[in-house]
Amino acid sequence: MTKLKIGIVGAGYIGGVHARILARDERVVIAAVHDVAPEPARRLADMCGARIAHSAQEVIESCDAVYIATPNTKHAELAIAAVQAGKHVFCEKPMATSLTEAQAVVEAAGKSDAVFQVGHNRRFAPVYTALKRLLTESHQPHSAHVKMNRGELLHPEWVGDSKITGGFLYETTIHMFDMMRFLFGEVTMLQALGSSHEYPETDDFSILLQFAGGMHATFASSADASWLFPYERVEVFCHHSTITTREMESLVYNQALDGRNIEQSMHQLAKEEKWGYLQEDQSFVDSITRGLPPAVTAEDGYKSVELVESCYRSISTSEAVKF
Ligand SMILES: NC(=O)c1ccc[n+]([C@@H]2O[C@H](COP(=O)([O-])OP(=O)(O)OC[C@H]3O[C@@H](n4cnc5c(N)ncnc54)[C@H](O)[C@@H]3O)[C@@H](O)[C@H]2O)c1
Repeated sequence: MTKLKIGIVGAGYIGGVHARILARDERVVIAAVHDVAPEPARRLADMCGARIAHSAQEVIESCDAVYIATPNTKHAELAIAAVQAGKHVFCEKPMATSLTEAQAVVEAAGKSDAVFQVGHNRRFAPVYTALKRLLTESHQPHSAHVKMNRGELLHPEWVGDSKITGGFLYETTIHMFDMMRFLFGEVTMLQALGSSHEYPETDDFSILLQFAGGMHATFASSADASWLFPYERVEVFCHHSTITTREMESLVYNQALDGRNIEQSMHQLAKEEKWGYLQEDQSFVDSITRGLPPAVTAEDGYKSVELVESCYRSISTSEAVKF
């Protein structure tokens, strides 16, 4: 069997996470690695037995599939270059940092027969697949309260620079916009409030959302909230029942008013599985090798960008945004 040649552009933290997972997949070989900094490129290339490529273009030309794991504002340009070269693309979140760019990626991906997947890993995390199953099979949601905080915007260095992230909502919070669509359906209206405290950009957000099925939710996201656990939490309120997640660690719910709670714990899973990275990489390779549609599409990537942009717009106009 000919192995799928995978290239990685951006050899930092998340490039390393994907490379370690892919290196164990017998269907693929990591053929090339590129990073603008020589040291991370050399370290990752040594770790997975890959060649160091001197440009992203060299990776694109020499591989069948490309992982884009650079900081945010480079994603769209690299994704479009790879997709236009007919390559399969795994693009880390955010897929783009403006609606215009996101639209250009959707159009380029739409013209290609190759697989295009966006790295919204939470969809694959066992906590969230279990929550989704409960909402589909037994618990009708009425409303929800969601939070996604960060401790700081200091590590890695570039996360405090909105010219590189596109803004805090693009860097961290975007995960939960995708997650809310995955769990609750399409957003029909949102209104956001924001303020700035620690960093020279809006770093605290309170958002009110309405969904097509009639459900509504509040969503809080702070960039400087400390790493007090859990920094990510979803509480869903159903008929005489609440379902609560604690980061990617556990899910607790009740089924009736008898005071008994059921806990599903994911504590003992390895992080790469607990956070859904293993499953999203397997799913990407499955899509390529078995001709399956990608689990998180360019359209999904666009919708998350649209929700981020709408929050910033709602804050600047003090008005709700309707979809
Ligand atoms: N899905 C997730 O849970 C998750 C987790 C972490 C990071 N991310 C995303 O992955 C991306 C990378 O984040 P990270 O934490 O790995 O950052 P990082 O700083 O650890 O790594 C980024 C690497 O990209 C390199 N780089 C910068 N510009 C480049 C360019 N033009 N071409 C090639 N290489 C370039 C840097 O030298 C660095 O080694 C970000 O977009 C981030 O939002 C996603």
